[in-house]
Amino acid sequence: MLNGKVVAITGGFGQLGVAVVQGALAAGAKVAALDRAPAPAAASNLGDALALGGLDLAEPDVAARALDEVARKFGGLDALVNIAGTFRWEELEQGSVDTWDLLYRVNLRSAVSTSRAALPHLTRRGGGSIVNIGAGAAAARAAAGMGAYTASKAGVAKLTEALAAEVKDRGITVNAILPSTIDTPANRADMPKADFSRWVAPKSIADTILFLLSDSARDITGALIPVSGRV
Ligand SMILES: NC(=O)c1ccc[n+]([C@@H]2O[C@H](COP(=O)([O-])OP(=O)(O)OC[C@H]3O[C@@H](n4cnc5c(N)ncnc54)[C@H](OP(=O)(O)O)[C@@H]3O)[C@@H](O)[C@H]2O)c1
Repeated sequence: MLNGKVVAITGGFGQLGVAVVQGALAAGAKVAALDRAPAPAAASNLGDALALGGLDLAEPDVAARALDEVARKFGGLDALVNIAGTFRWEELEQGSVDTWDLLYRVNLRSAVSTSRAALPHLTRRGGGSIVNIGAGAAAARAAAGMGAYTASKAGVAKLTEALAAEVKDRGITVNAILPSTIDTPANRADMPKADFSRWVAPKSIADTILFLLSDSARDITGALIPVSGRV
């Protein structure tokens, strides 16, 4: 499905990131996992992926250097998956203004910086794809405590739409996945009484991302796609 395509995945050491790394490798891609966390030890669950850790991808220079390294190592770049992100639940009065900066930086600025750094490589290739991770919660009315998170993820949706329009004539597609609650160990620990079977599995989101990276999705761009299990 992705035979020989070069795919860079941010947040590649996280719960969803690892599922996408594994899926892309199994689909025949050459994969680079980029993350702020330290690169895992040799026998990790990242298989043959190039693992680049310790990167704050919200910094444009860091993102550019990382993608240059990926392109140098693999001979170009065909796709970018922006998964790096985080979550905070915090009400305004009890919380901190800094939380809004943090979520903006991690969820939106990292996708902006890394997408910008990918564009020269994708353009050189004559086309490619970018997939962002937004959030289903940002497409609905924001609940209490969800202001900073949904504002940052709404930004990801608008980045997706605008960039799709800006690069469509270059054969570059830009889409976003809007997950509901993902079935991760962290969410299970935070919400022990929830019905985990209703949540969406990382592999299920990964399968949709792999489709969007494939040639079968060449005419899909600017789409915001909910992948929500039974939530
Ligand atoms: N989990 C959910 O229920 C859910 C629902 C909707 C959307 N999402 C979105 O889905 C994505 C993946 O979620 P997940 O649960 O897999 O998260 P995760 O396990 O926490 O993985 C996220 C990874 O991104 C890295 N990262 C954070 N800031 C970064 C930066 N500035 N530069 C580079 N890497 C950075 C993190 O590194 P550190 O560990 O060093 O911070 C971590 O390894 C996120 O964008 C999240 O907002 C998640």
